[in-house]
Formats: sequence, C-alpha cells, structure tokens
Amino acid sequence: MTAPAPSEVWLVDPGARPSPPPEPAVDPEPFHRTLPGYAPTPVRALAELARELRVGELWVKDESHRLGLPSFKLLGGAWAVHRLLLERAGLPLPGAGWPELQAAAAGAAGTTLVTATDGNHGRGVAHIARLLGLGAVVFVPAGTSAARIDALRSEGAAVQEHPGSYDDAVTAAAAAAERQGWLLVADVATGRDRTVPRWVMEGYQTIFTECDRQLPGPVDAVVVQAGVGALAAATARHYLATVRPPRLAIVEPLSAACCLASARAGRRTSIEASQASIMAGLNCGTPSLVAWPHVAAATTVFCAIDDEWARRAMRRLAAAGIEAGESGAAGLAGLLALADDAPARAALGLHAGARVLIVNTEGATDPAAYRAVIGASAAAEVGP
Ligand SMILES: Cc1ncc(COP(=O)(O)O)c(C=O)c1O
Repeated sequence: MTAPAPSEVWLVDPGARPSPPPEPAVDPEPFHRTLPGYAPTPVRALAELARELRVGELWVKDESHRLGLPSFKLLGGAWAVHRLLLERAGLPLPGAGWPELQAAAAGAAGTTLVTATDGNHGRGVAHIARLLGLGAVVFVPAGTSAARIDALRSEGAAVQEHPGSYDDAVTAAAAAAERQGWLLVADVATGRDRTVPRWVMEGYQTIFTECDRQLPGPVDAVVVQAGVGALAAATARHYLATVRPPRLAIVEPLSAACCLASARAGRRTSIEASQASIMAGLNCGTPSLVAWPHVAAATTVFCAIDDEWARRAMRRLAAAGIEAGESGAAGLAGLLALADDAPARAALGLHAGARVLIVNTEGATDPAAYRAVIGASAAAEVGP
C-alpha cells in the first residue's frame, strides 16, 4: 500500500498560548434532552487501534446518528434557534425546553431561517425549521455534492448554490438575511453577528457533557477535526473548565488548514481554501471569530492531513463497525498521521498509558462517496 502524502504539523508551546476568553457558557444539555428522539450517542473503545497507536485507551464518541441526522451538527443549530426564538419572544431561557421552543416558533409563524453550509450545519438548521413549521433557505458553495443538496431538500429547505467557496456562501447568506428579513443562523462569526455563532458553538458542548458521564475516567488527549473551529472551540471550552484539561490536537485538510495557518501566524488568519478535500465539512478558509480565541488557548498540536489519511481512517472505523464519513473520520486520520511523529506524540502526551478521545462527527452523509471508499459490501455491514 502506498503511503499517504505527508501531513503538516505545528506544535505550540503551552506556555506561549493566550488565556481563554472569560465567556461563561450556558449548559445546553438539559435543553437537548427535551428534543424529540433524544438519546446520548454511544462511546466505543477501539482496543486494537489503541494498541497499534501505542496508547492506553482510544475512545470514539460516535455522532454518526444524532437526533435522526447523520452528524453532530443539529446540536448547535437547535440550541442557537432555541435561544434566538426565545429571546425574540421575550421568554426566559432557564428551564425552557422543546415545548417552550415550539410555543416561541408558533408566535414566529412565517419566519424563514437562513444559513450557509457545506452540508451538515445547513441540514441541522433545515431539520429544526421543518420540525417547528418555519421556512429554511440554505446557501451551499459551488461543487457541493448532489447527495448533500438532496439531503437539504429532503428537509424542505430551499437550496441556493452560490458560485465560489464556503466563505463566499457565508457572505451571501448574511446578505440575503439582511435583504429579506430572514433569521440568520450562522455557525461561523466573520464580523457583525457573533451571538448566534457563539450559541451554535455552545450547543456542541453536549457531546462532551455526555462523554463525562459515559467514560470510565478522565481523558489525557482529545483529537478533534476543524472546519471553522466551532466544534474545536466547544471541546476547548468544555475541557478548559475541568481540573486537569486534556491536551488538544486539531485536524484539518491540507488544502483548508485555516486553524494551522492561524496558529503559525499567531493570529486568526484567512487562507485561500480550496473545496477540493473529500473532508467536505472541513473545507473552510477562515476560523470563526468567536471560536478562534478558545482554540488558540487550548490547542497543543495542529495537524493538516492529505485525503488519503481520511480514507484510511474511514476504513479502519468501518472495520470496527463504525460508520464514519470523510469529515467524521478526520480525528482518527490525524491520529494515524501523527502516530510516528515523535515530537507531536510528546506534545500530545501519547504514551502507553494515555487515554485518548476522538469524535466521529458524521456518518455516511454522502452514501455513494462513502461506498466508493469503503467498498459496497463493507458499507452494507456497517450501515444503520
Ligand atoms: C462532519 C463534520 N465534522 C466536523 C466539522 C467541523 O466543525 P466546525 O466547522 O465547527 O469546525 C463539520 C463542519 O461542518 C462537519 O460537518
């Protein structure tokens, strides 16, 4: 088997990291528990991979099936829409759950939610809009796969294909919101509206609140994938509030490594990200304004990988009975790429007793592309 193209690694001296922003988060988990069909997603131990990677334990939090959708993203979109509609209705947040959100939505009949997506966030927003009887418009970048567009339409969203990159689609969605009086549910903050992207990021923290209950003990290292960095920021925020925060590694595609570029530059930086990586959810050129300070405060290792690492990780997870799409497998892909990098191992504390957590952030969101990587028969064995 040929070796994947080299990955790129940037190590940060923990002493040189900025302090995290003093922003207390509201715990979204009690709200998520009230959503129809809620159940914590499973955590699985990957013993064989742990041995191969020479760590003590490797756990995967499996978000391939979350609240009826094949990714974690609804956690952020639902929490943001909840806070947005409650605030507009003048309803109190503490104790409010699905019934209160439904009541707020009933009072906002005729409202349209709008967002930009490379697939999963838009699907989450469209899904919650459909459940609440609201409209949804979703902007996608050029080249978004037909399967992802069909999935958005299946949630009742009007899909607008925008020529250009994911970052261009983000700008177009914000402009449309202003022009049409639609409610913008952005998962990335680029300038004006920081509140909603902060809520989206906050919503992801439920993943780690669940992990705290599910894991037998604390973790020593977390490896998480980044697009605009909101999931990574939620990871940072959750664990920086613990007694002994684990070390954090961020994984991105080589062709869209905006967090790595920002770490290298010492400030949030935009890059000319291509949409070429198969890790479609991670094809972003600019870290979110509200996410970057948390990511910078917590991350020890930034790692950018070639797509071939993602394919390998998808196959390894499939062999373990876990359905992981291209972006979903990126955390494991980063670990595989770092496995023989001695300085990165040391920085992340990967030793024979280390307990490591990764997150499978999506299932087969593009089923044909998934089957092409895994092979049809293996995909049938793993399928839901
Ligand atoms: C499956 C998947 N994993 C990870 C991410 C990265 O999340 P973020 O953009 O918050 O960094 C995304 C973003 O869309 C995604 O779809």
